[in-house]
Amino acid sequence: MEPLEDIKKRAWGDIEKARDAVALELARIKYIGRKGELTEILKSLKGLPVEGRRKLGPRANALRQELEKKIAVALTHLSEIKSKKRIDVTKPGKRISRGHLHPLTLVDAEVRRIFSSMNFSVVEGPEIESEFYNFDALNIPGDHPARDLWDTFWIKKEKRGEESLLLRTHTSPMQIRYMQAHNPPFQIIVPGRVFRYEATDASHAFNFYQVEGLMVGPDVTLANFKFIIEEFFKKFFRTQIDFRFRPSYFPFVEPGLEVDIRLKGGKWLEVMGAGMVHRNVFDAVRYNPDSSAGGVQGFAFGMGLDRLAMIKYNIPDIRLFYSGDIRFIEQF
Ligand code: FA5
Repeated sequence: MEPLEDIKKRAWGDIEKARDAVALELARIKYIGRKGELTEILKSLKGLPVEGRRKLGPRANALRQELEKKIAVALTHLSEIKSKKRIDVTKPGKRISRGHLHPLTLVDAEVRRIFSSMNFSVVEGPEIESEFYNFDALNIPGDHPARDLWDTFWIKKEKRGEESLLLRTHTSPMQIRYMQAHNPPFQIIVPGRVFRYEATDASHAFNFYQVEGLMVGPDVTLANFKFIIEEFFKKFFRTQIDFRFRPSYFPFVEPGLEVDIRLKGGKWLEVMGAGMVHRNVFDAVRYNPDSSAGGVQGFAFGMGLDRLAMIKYNIPDIRLFYSGDIRFIEQF
Protein backbone atom coordinates (compact mmCIF):
# COMPACT_ATOMS: atom_id res chain seq x y z
CA MET A 1 0.00 0.00 0.00
CA GLU A 2 1.12 3.48 -0.78
CA PRO A 3 2.60 5.12 2.41
CA LEU A 4 0.09 8.00 2.67
CA GLU A 5 -2.83 5.62 2.17
CA ASP A 6 -1.39 3.34 4.78
CA ILE A 7 -0.98 6.15 7.34
CA LYS A 8 -4.48 7.43 6.68
CA LYS A 9 -6.03 4.02 7.17
CA ARG A 10 -4.24 3.29 10.43
CA ALA A 11 -4.71 6.84 11.79
CA TRP A 12 -8.47 6.67 11.12
CA GLY A 13 -8.61 3.34 12.91
CA ASP A 14 -6.73 4.66 15.93
CA ILE A 15 -8.96 7.73 16.19
CA GLU A 16 -12.15 5.68 15.96
CA LYS A 17 -10.92 3.34 18.66
CA ALA A 18 -9.83 6.11 21.04
CA ARG A 19 -12.12 6.17 24.12
CA ASP A 20 -10.52 9.14 25.88
CA ALA A 21 -8.43 12.25 25.36
CA VAL A 22 -5.18 10.45 26.23
CA ALA A 23 -5.68 7.87 23.48
CA LEU A 24 -6.38 10.67 21.01
CA GLU A 25 -3.25 12.53 22.04
CA LEU A 26 -1.18 9.38 21.58
CA ALA A 27 -2.59 8.99 18.06
CA ARG A 28 -1.77 12.62 17.31
CA ILE A 29 1.83 12.17 18.45
CA LYS A 30 2.15 8.93 16.53
CA TYR A 31 1.23 10.53 13.17
CA ILE A 32 1.73 14.27 13.32
CA GLY A 33 3.85 14.79 16.43
CA ARG A 34 7.37 16.11 16.06
CA LYS A 35 8.59 12.68 15.10
CA GLY A 36 5.28 11.40 13.82
CA GLU A 37 5.01 9.18 10.76
CA LEU A 38 3.42 11.83 8.61
CA THR A 39 5.77 14.52 9.92
CA GLU A 40 8.70 12.39 8.83
CA ILE A 41 7.30 12.14 5.34
CA LEU A 42 6.77 15.89 5.21
CA LYS A 43 10.33 16.46 6.37
CA SER A 44 11.65 14.08 3.68
CA LEU A 45 9.97 16.09 0.93
CA LYS A 46 12.91 18.48 0.95
CA GLY A 47 15.22 15.72 -0.28
CA LEU A 48 12.97 14.69 -3.15
CA PRO A 49 13.34 15.81 -6.75
CA VAL A 50 10.97 18.59 -7.79
CA GLU A 51 8.72 16.21 -9.63
CA GLY A 52 8.25 13.94 -6.63
CA ARG A 53 7.78 16.93 -4.29
CA ARG A 54 4.97 18.30 -6.46
CA LYS A 55 3.24 14.97 -6.50
CA LEU A 56 3.53 14.12 -2.83
CA GLY A 57 3.67 17.52 -1.13
CA PRO A 58 0.06 18.73 -1.50
CA ARG A 59 -1.38 15.32 -0.62
CA ALA A 60 0.76 14.96 2.50
CA ASN A 61 -0.18 18.44 3.66
CA ALA A 62 -3.85 17.83 3.01
CA LEU A 63 -3.71 14.60 4.97
CA ARG A 64 -2.08 16.39 7.87
CA GLN A 65 -4.88 18.96 7.98
CA GLU A 66 -7.49 16.27 7.69
CA LEU A 67 -5.95 14.40 10.59
CA GLU A 68 -5.82 17.47 12.79
CA LYS A 69 -9.45 18.17 12.10
CA LYS A 70 -10.55 14.62 12.71
CA ILE A 71 -8.76 14.53 16.07
CA ALA A 72 -10.34 17.84 17.13
CA VAL A 73 -13.81 16.59 16.22
CA ALA A 74 -13.25 13.33 18.11
CA LEU A 75 -12.11 15.29 21.14
CA THR A 76 -15.26 17.43 21.34
CA HIS A 77 -17.39 14.37 20.80
CA LEU A 78 -15.74 12.64 23.76
CA SER A 79 -16.19 15.61 26.08
CA GLU A 80 -19.86 15.87 25.11
CA ILE A 81 -20.48 12.26 26.05
CA LYS A 82 -18.69 12.83 29.33
CA SER A 83 -20.77 15.86 30.26
CA LYS A 84 -24.05 14.05 29.65
CA LYS A 85 -24.99 12.84 33.15
CA ARG A 86 -24.90 9.13 33.38
CA ILE A 87 -26.77 7.26 36.09
CA ASP A 88 -24.47 5.61 38.54
CA VAL A 89 -26.68 3.01 40.18
CA THR A 90 -24.13 2.38 42.90
CA LYS A 91 -24.17 6.00 44.14
CA PRO A 92 -25.97 6.65 47.45
CA GLY A 93 -29.36 8.35 46.93
CA LYS A 94 -30.05 12.04 47.55
CA ARG A 95 -32.00 12.56 50.75
CA ILE A 96 -35.45 14.00 49.96
CA SER A 97 -36.16 16.84 52.36
CA ARG A 98 -39.32 16.33 54.40
CA GLY A 99 -42.08 18.93 54.57
CA HIS A 100 -43.80 20.22 57.69
CA LEU A 101 -47.38 20.28 58.77
CA HIS A 102 -48.78 23.80 59.09
CA PRO A 103 -49.14 24.90 62.74
CA LEU A 104 -52.92 25.16 62.28
CA THR A 105 -52.99 21.58 61.01
CA LEU A 106 -51.00 20.46 64.05
CA VAL A 107 -53.37 22.24 66.41
CA ASP A 108 -56.42 20.90 64.60
CA ALA A 109 -55.10 17.34 64.96
CA GLU A 110 -54.33 17.87 68.64
CA VAL A 111 -57.80 19.26 69.36
CA ARG A 112 -59.43 16.27 67.63
CA ARG A 113 -57.23 13.86 69.56
CA ILE A 114 -57.97 15.37 72.98
CA PHE A 115 -61.75 15.60 72.50
CA SER A 116 -61.86 12.09 71.05
CA SER A 117 -60.12 10.87 74.20
CA MET A 118 -62.97 12.49 76.18
CA ASN A 119 -65.51 10.54 74.13
CA PHE A 120 -66.56 13.36 71.78
CA SER A 121 -67.35 12.50 68.16
CA VAL A 122 -65.75 14.62 65.45
CA VAL A 123 -68.04 15.80 62.64
CA GLU A 124 -67.66 18.32 59.83
CA GLY A 125 -70.03 20.52 57.88
CA PRO A 126 -70.29 22.60 54.69
CA GLU A 127 -68.44 25.92 54.30
CA ILE A 128 -71.22 27.30 52.11
CA GLU A 129 -74.30 27.53 54.29
CA SER A 130 -77.87 28.68 54.00
CA GLU A 131 -79.15 31.70 55.84
CA PHE A 132 -81.42 29.33 57.75
CA TYR A 133 -78.64 27.27 59.32
CA ASN A 134 -76.16 30.11 59.84
CA PHE A 135 -78.72 32.50 61.37
CA ASP A 136 -82.47 31.77 61.59
CA ALA A 137 -82.35 28.37 63.25
CA LEU A 138 -79.83 29.78 65.72
CA ASN A 139 -82.40 32.25 67.00
CA ILE A 140 -81.10 35.14 64.90
CA PRO A 141 -84.03 36.32 62.74
CA GLY A 142 -83.49 38.56 59.70
CA ASP A 143 -84.23 41.85 61.43
CA HIS A 144 -82.31 41.04 64.59
CA PRO A 145 -79.42 43.43 65.37
CA ALA A 146 -77.31 40.47 66.53
CA ARG A 147 -76.75 39.60 62.88
CA ASP A 148 -74.33 42.49 62.79
CA LEU A 149 -72.07 40.52 65.13
CA TRP A 150 -71.14 38.47 62.07
CA ASP A 151 -70.17 40.45 58.99
CA THR A 152 -71.11 38.10 56.23
CA PHE A 153 -69.88 37.17 52.76
CA TRP A 154 -73.14 36.63 50.87
CA ILE A 155 -73.24 34.63 47.67
CA LYS A 156 -74.75 36.51 44.72
CA LYS A 157 -78.46 35.82 44.35
CA GLU A 158 -78.68 35.50 40.58
CA LYS A 159 -76.35 32.50 40.66
CA ARG A 160 -78.84 30.23 42.46
CA GLY A 161 -82.44 29.77 43.42
CA GLU A 162 -84.37 31.58 46.08
CA GLU A 163 -82.56 30.36 49.19
CA SER A 164 -79.94 32.81 50.46
CA LEU A 165 -76.48 31.29 50.60
CA LEU A 166 -73.39 32.58 52.38
CA LEU A 167 -69.93 31.56 53.56
CA ARG A 168 -70.54 30.35 57.10
CA THR A 169 -69.51 32.94 59.67
CA HIS A 170 -69.12 30.33 62.42
CA THR A 171 -69.31 26.58 62.92
CA SER A 172 -72.55 26.87 64.92
CA PRO A 173 -74.82 25.92 61.96
CA MET A 174 -73.59 22.37 62.48
CA GLN A 175 -75.36 22.35 65.84
CA ILE A 176 -78.63 22.48 63.92
CA ARG A 177 -77.65 20.03 61.18
CA TYR A 178 -76.41 17.50 63.72
CA MET A 179 -79.45 17.75 66.01
CA GLN A 180 -81.83 17.40 63.06
CA ALA A 181 -80.21 14.08 62.20
CA HIS A 182 -79.45 12.62 65.65
CA ASN A 183 -81.13 12.01 68.97
CA PRO A 184 -79.59 12.96 72.32
CA PRO A 185 -77.62 12.23 74.37
CA PHE A 186 -74.42 12.96 72.44
CA GLN A 187 -71.29 15.08 72.52
CA ILE A 188 -69.58 16.35 69.37
CA ILE A 189 -66.96 18.77 68.16
CA VAL A 190 -66.99 20.40 64.71
CA PRO A 191 -63.66 21.78 63.50
CA GLY A 192 -63.76 23.87 60.34
CA ARG A 193 -63.03 27.00 58.38
CA VAL A 194 -65.21 30.08 58.76
CA PHE A 195 -65.35 33.42 56.94
CA ARG A 196 -66.04 37.00 57.98
CA TYR A 197 -66.19 40.18 55.99
CA GLU A 198 -64.09 42.17 58.40
CA ALA A 199 -60.85 44.15 58.56
CA THR A 200 -57.78 42.19 59.56
CA ASP A 201 -55.39 42.96 62.39
CA ALA A 202 -52.96 41.00 64.55
CA SER A 203 -55.73 38.88 66.08
CA HIS A 204 -58.42 38.99 63.35
CA ALA A 205 -58.35 37.25 59.99
CA PHE A 206 -61.16 37.26 57.40
CA ASN A 207 -61.03 33.53 57.19
CA PHE A 208 -59.99 31.47 60.17
CA TYR A 209 -60.79 28.24 61.99
CA GLN A 210 -63.23 27.42 64.74
CA VAL A 211 -64.06 24.33 66.72
CA GLU A 212 -67.67 24.04 67.71
CA GLY A 213 -68.62 21.89 70.69
CA LEU A 214 -72.05 20.60 71.60
CA MET A 215 -73.09 18.30 74.42
CA VAL A 216 -76.77 17.50 74.97
CA GLY A 217 -78.45 15.19 77.45
CA PRO A 218 -81.03 15.08 80.24
CA ASP A 219 -78.81 16.77 82.82
CA VAL A 220 -75.85 18.45 81.11
CA THR A 221 -74.90 21.68 82.91
CA LEU A 222 -72.40 24.56 82.77
CA ALA A 223 -70.43 22.74 85.46
CA ASN A 224 -69.82 19.96 82.91
CA PHE A 225 -68.76 22.60 80.40
CA LYS A 226 -66.29 24.15 82.80
CA PHE A 227 -64.78 20.79 83.70
CA ILE A 228 -64.40 19.65 80.09
CA ILE A 229 -62.91 22.92 78.89
CA GLU A 230 -60.42 23.08 81.73
CA GLU A 231 -59.43 19.47 81.06
CA PHE A 232 -59.02 20.30 77.41
CA PHE A 233 -56.80 23.32 78.05
CA LYS A 234 -54.62 21.42 80.51
CA LYS A 235 -54.06 18.65 77.98
CA PHE A 236 -53.58 21.08 75.12
CA PHE A 237 -51.08 23.46 76.72
CA ARG A 238 -49.47 20.95 79.12
CA THR A 239 -48.63 23.84 81.38
CA GLN A 240 -50.28 26.04 83.98
CA ILE A 241 -52.70 28.52 82.36
CA ASP A 242 -55.18 31.07 83.71
CA PHE A 243 -58.85 31.07 82.67
CA ARG A 244 -61.44 33.81 82.80
CA PHE A 245 -65.13 33.03 82.31
CA ARG A 246 -67.02 36.26 81.49
CA PRO A 247 -70.78 36.71 81.00
CA SER A 248 -71.57 37.51 77.38
CA TYR A 249 -74.34 37.45 74.82
CA PHE A 250 -75.04 35.12 71.90
CA PRO A 251 -78.62 34.71 70.64
CA PHE A 252 -78.39 30.89 70.59
CA VAL A 253 -77.38 30.44 74.23
CA GLU A 254 -78.84 31.47 77.57
CA PRO A 255 -76.90 32.22 79.69
CA GLY A 256 -73.93 33.06 77.48
CA LEU A 257 -70.28 33.50 78.32
CA GLU A 258 -66.86 34.03 76.86
CA VAL A 259 -63.61 32.41 77.91
CA ASP A 260 -60.24 34.16 77.93
CA ILE A 261 -56.96 32.45 78.66
CA ARG A 262 -53.39 33.49 79.24
CA LEU A 263 -50.12 31.74 79.79
CA LYS A 264 -47.95 32.83 82.74
CA GLY A 265 -47.19 36.51 82.36
CA GLY A 266 -48.86 36.68 78.94
CA LYS A 267 -51.75 38.77 77.65
CA TRP A 268 -55.40 37.73 77.95
CA LEU A 269 -56.79 36.46 74.67
CA GLU A 270 -60.45 35.72 74.02
CA VAL A 271 -60.61 32.16 72.75
CA MET A 272 -64.25 31.14 72.81
CA GLY A 273 -67.91 31.94 73.12
CA ALA A 274 -70.15 29.47 74.91
CA GLY A 275 -73.31 28.94 76.92
CA MET A 276 -76.34 26.75 77.57
CA VAL A 277 -78.25 25.98 74.36
CA HIS A 278 -81.22 28.35 74.00
CA ARG A 279 -84.65 26.73 74.10
CA ASN A 280 -85.55 28.35 70.77
CA VAL A 281 -82.70 26.39 69.20
CA PHE A 282 -84.08 23.15 70.65
CA ASP A 283 -87.49 24.15 69.32
CA ALA A 284 -86.03 24.64 65.84
CA VAL A 285 -84.80 21.03 65.81
CA ARG A 286 -87.89 19.65 67.59
CA TYR A 287 -86.11 18.64 70.78
CA ASN A 288 -88.05 18.96 74.02
CA PRO A 289 -86.33 21.81 75.94
CA ASP A 290 -88.08 21.05 79.26
CA SER A 291 -85.63 18.85 81.05
CA SER A 292 -88.03 18.56 83.97
CA ALA A 293 -90.57 16.97 81.60
CA GLY A 294 -88.28 14.35 80.06
CA GLY A 295 -86.57 16.85 77.76
CA VAL A 296 -82.92 17.78 77.36
CA GLN A 297 -80.46 20.56 78.00
CA GLY A 298 -76.89 21.14 76.92
CA PHE A 299 -73.97 23.41 76.41
CA ALA A 300 -72.36 24.70 73.24
CA PHE A 301 -69.10 26.47 72.58
CA GLY A 302 -67.18 27.87 69.64
CA MET A 303 -63.47 28.45 69.99
CA GLY A 304 -60.97 30.12 67.72
CA LEU A 305 -58.40 27.57 66.63
CA ASP A 306 -55.98 30.23 65.34
CA ARG A 307 -56.01 31.96 68.71
CA LEU A 308 -55.13 28.68 70.45
CA ALA A 309 -52.25 28.17 68.04
CA MET A 310 -51.04 31.75 68.63
CA ILE A 311 -50.83 31.16 72.37
CA LYS A 312 -49.37 27.67 72.13
CA TYR A 313 -46.58 28.65 69.74
CA ASN A 314 -46.23 32.26 70.87
CA ILE A 315 -47.12 33.71 67.48
CA PRO A 316 -47.72 37.47 67.62
CA ASP A 317 -49.80 37.95 64.45
CA ILE A 318 -52.60 35.75 63.08
CA ARG A 319 -51.86 36.85 59.51
CA LEU A 320 -48.61 34.87 59.57
CA PHE A 321 -50.67 31.67 59.33
CA TYR A 322 -52.01 32.72 55.95
CA SER A 323 -48.92 34.46 54.56
CA GLY A 324 -47.58 31.36 52.79
CA ASP A 325 -44.10 32.37 53.97
CA ILE A 326 -41.97 29.24 54.08
CA ARG A 327 -39.58 30.78 56.64
CA PHE A 328 -42.52 30.96 59.06
CA ILE A 329 -43.84 27.47 58.42
CA GLU A 330 -40.44 25.83 58.73
CA GLN A 331 -40.16 26.77 62.39
CA PHE A 332 -42.73 24.19 63.49
C1 FA5 B 1 -69.09 32.76 67.62
O1 FA5 B 1 -68.68 32.64 66.46
C2 FA5 B 1 -70.09 31.83 68.20
N1 FA5 B 1 -70.61 30.95 67.17
C3 FA5 B 1 -69.44 31.05 69.33
C4 FA5 B 1 -70.42 30.29 70.16
C5 FA5 B 1 -70.70 28.96 69.88
C6 FA5 B 1 -71.07 30.89 71.23
C7 FA5 B 1 -71.61 28.26 70.65
C8 FA5 B 1 -71.98 30.22 71.99
C9 FA5 B 1 -72.24 28.89 71.70
P1 FA5 B 1 -67.43 34.69 68.17
O2 FA5 B 1 -67.79 35.57 67.04
O3 FA5 B 1 -67.09 35.37 69.45
O4 FA5 B 1 -68.55 33.66 68.49
O5 FA5 B 1 -66.19 33.81 67.73
C10 FA5 B 1 -65.73 32.74 68.53
C11 FA5 B 1 -64.20 32.75 68.62
O6 FA5 B 1 -63.63 32.77 67.33
C12 FA5 B 1 -63.64 33.99 69.30
O7 FA5 B 1 -63.61 33.82 70.69
C13 FA5 B 1 -62.24 34.07 68.73
O8 FA5 B 1 -61.37 33.20 69.42
C14 FA5 B 1 -62.43 33.55 67.34
N2 FA5 B 1 -62.56 34.63 66.36
C15 FA5 B 1 -63.60 35.45 66.15
N3 FA5 B 1 -63.37 36.32 65.15
C16 FA5 B 1 -62.13 36.03 64.71
C17 FA5 B 1 -61.30 36.55 63.66
N4 FA5 B 1 -61.73 37.53 62.85
N5 FA5 B 1 -60.08 36.02 63.50
C18 FA5 B 1 -59.67 35.01 64.28
N6 FA5 B 1 -60.38 34.45 65.26
C19 FA5 B 1 -61.60 34.96 65.47
